[in-house]
Amino acid sequence: MFRNPWFETVAEAQRRAKRRLPYMVYGALVAGSERGRTVDDNITAFGELGFAPRVVGRSSAGDRAERDLSTTVMGVESSFPVLISPTGVQAVHPDGEVAVARAAANRGVIMGLSSFASKPVEEVAAANPNVFFQMYWSGDRDAMVQRMERAKAAGAKALIATLDWSFSHGRDWGSPTIPEKIDAKTVAKLAPGVLPYPGWLWRFAKSGRLPDLTTPNLKPPNGPAPTFFGAYGEWMQTPPPTWEDVAWLRKEWGGPFMLKGVTRVDDAKRAVDAGVTALSVSNHGGNNLDTTPATIRVLPSIADAVGDQVEVLLDGGVRRGGDVAKALALGARAVLIGRASLWGLAANGEAGVENVLDILRSGLDSAVLGLGHAGVRDLSPDDLVVPRDFRLTLGGGSED
Ligand SMILES: Cc1cc2nc3c(=O)[nH]c(=O)nc-3n(C[C@H](O)[C@H](O)[C@H](O)COP(=O)(O)O)c2cc1C
Repeated sequence: MFRNPWFETVAEAQRRAKRRLPYMVYGALVAGSERGRTVDDNITAFGELGFAPRVVGRSSAGDRAERDLSTTVMGVESSFPVLISPTGVQAVHPDGEVAVARAAANRGVIMGLSSFASKPVEEVAAANPNVFFQMYWSGDRDAMVQRMERAKAAGAKALIATLDWSFSHGRDWGSPTIPEKIDAKTVAKLAPGVLPYPGWLWRFAKSGRLPDLTTPNLKPPNGPAPTFFGAYGEWMQTPPPTWEDVAWLRKEWGGPFMLKGVTRVDDAKRAVDAGVTALSVSNHGGNNLDTTPATIRVLPSIADAVGDQVEVLLDGGVRRGGDVAKALALGARAVLIGRASLWGLAANGEAGVENVLDILRSGLDSAVLGLGHAGVRDLSPDDLVVPRDFRLTLGGGSED
């Protein structure tokens, strides 16, 4: 039967991902935690915001047929204000993050690469010169320095330090069982779960590789790459960082530095004091502390507080170009996408990620056009219908 591989929405990409991925992989991408309130609110909140369109464009909008969607993030150009968010996932596609990086490069978009990713930073940077490498506060300082040096040598243009994680695990809808490694014994055990997904199996069979479930970017100089669970164990045993540690990390990196995971105004101000270049207002896509509010609700307070000192980005719940426009109108310089790119990768490999980026770009372009603007820089709160009590300020007490 002929099936058009092109899809018209991210929701359709997710439906295809669900059909194509064994549950142990699909469930890991759905992620979320506990009741799933935050993961839902990230998406719901965008739907609560409305647009206030204009029939005739403002000033400069009328004099050209195309809108300027381009921007820069920490000095790196992006053809439109969407970046790939780092995701530490395995077994979605044999080309994994290399396919995502190629798609991003083809669309002029920056690639965020997780230190928990399945592909080494050298291969990913070869596919897309605009890579931002992401790290957690994990391991001792020597290990962190070695990982940063390696990413720098590979050509990473910025560091993303992700600091919002609390190792909360349970999900009311159940978590998939993920093996520590794939060998003959696990293959036999997993067979009933993966045999109904011949397309997924075929992709891996064609590549001649089994999903290896290791984290190559955390490989020590003289040892094998740790397994995903091994890496997770190291991270759990690392005492959480102080603001001095954040300043140390930034100094050691020595280049553009984004702190990811901020939802509070007081944290945003401390991040500025620690010398960050940018921050991403993020709740880890709802995978962290459940019932944390949607990031788009807390973005305006953070952008108002520190947006004139550092670049403020947002991630969480972005599924449409209109969502990108809304985040920009409320003060974000750009957004990062996590699951949307993973659904695209699962649905149709590299072309699927390009498809997702095209959906977001054209949706953003429609919004900018409908709002009567010449480009993304013109977006402002005046373009939106913002319900009462939508905006939330966390950690904005009078002592700050
Ligand atoms: C399966 C999965 C794995 C993730 N792994 C990482 C990671 O390794 N590092 C990180 O900084 N964020 C990670 N994230 C969070 C994303 O970077 C991003 O903050 C989140 O997905 C944004 O929400 P969205 O999925 O609704 O776009 C992960 C998210 C998902 C869904």
